[in-house]
Amino acid sequence: MKILVTGGTGFIGSHTCVELLDSGYEVVILDNLSNSQRDVVKKIQTITQKTVHFYEGDCCDKQMVEKIFKEHHIDAVIHFAGYKAVGESVCKPLMYYQNNLMSTLTLCEVMNQYECKQLVFSSSATVYGDPEIVPIDETSKLGPTTNPYGTTKLYIEQILRDLYVSDPSWNIALLRYFNPIGAHASGFIGESPNDIPNNLMPYIVKVANKELPQLHVFGNDYDTHDGTGIRDYIHVVDLAKGHICSINNFLLEHVGVEAYNLGTGFGYSVLDVVHTFMKVNDVDVPYVIDERRPGDIASCYAKTEKAYQELGWKAEKNLNDMCKDAWNYVKHFKLQ
Ligand code: WQD
Repeated sequence: MKILVTGGTGFIGSHTCVELLDSGYEVVILDNLSNSQRDVVKKIQTITQKTVHFYEGDCCDKQMVEKIFKEHHIDAVIHFAGYKAVGESVCKPLMYYQNNLMSTLTLCEVMNQYECKQLVFSSSATVYGDPEIVPIDETSKLGPTTNPYGTTKLYIEQILRDLYVSDPSWNIALLRYFNPIGAHASGFIGESPNDIPNNLMPYIVKVANKELPQLHVFGNDYDTHDGTGIRDYIHVVDLAKGHICSINNFLLEHVGVEAYNLGTGFGYSVLDVVHTFMKVNDVDVPYVIDERRPGDIASCYAKTEKAYQELGWKAEKNLNDMCKDAWNYVKHFKLQ
């Protein structure tokens, strides 16, 4: 079975390619390298000792997508490619709508042309907006979203539901990620943003590695156990395995369009993460308490029963593993 992975050299995409290859699938990657490096292809091949077909290109380029479907019989697609920085999306909404929506429309058009109607879409917990109740389950109210990035995910989910209504032979899994962190245990692949990170873990890692002076904790006056924001952090390898379970599930039965939360079901605060990171890695992470970040919510974590009952998937790694593997990647990456 051959799987096309768009955005396959990215953080979650690369870890998913490793799990696909280790599960016996063939992998074709399409990535424009706008937020990743080409040498990730080699690292995926080193980890798995398997070859990958790599195409440098953009999902918005219909000719490129058609070329892949002409040269390969694609059985299913996992669609990661898209811009994903919340803060950037507020400043550049048109760029986000253009890229994230057009790439998906172009991809689905070509999939349709080639009778390939099995799609796993990289969605996000941001489609829930500021949840009224936590933990959040898949029937929770969607929106209003708090940034254009989250809105693109919500719009794409609706587009894919409309596509299914027009042609019920489609199988579409909408995977709503909570907060993916960590790295592959080998240390070969992980999260390595080039500029100042927006997200918590890559920022902590740069402070621990003395690339940044201190962490700014965005607010300690939330209604949580220690006043700092709570999120459902999930190990990126667990998240990757959730995609394999989705694909396997398609092969067993027709699902139509289904949304699944991919989280651990546990919420940890910012200070929980900082203290755990320092303890398990025996490093210092100096921090200062700052004002809240606009658009942030107090608490967000998942109900995970549906993914377990229908996909046979649940997260297995804990916060210690996530902190250890994130730090191991930086130490290893710096040596490469
Ligand atoms: C986590 C917590 C911050 C940085 C993002 C995006 C989206 C999604 C998940 C895929 C919050 C606090 C952060 C810092 C801090 N991914 N924080 N200092 O905003 O929950 O969600 O990741 O869809 O990319 O929605 O993640 O890591 O930015 O913040 O105190 O320097 O850490 O206030 O409480 P977020 P985050």
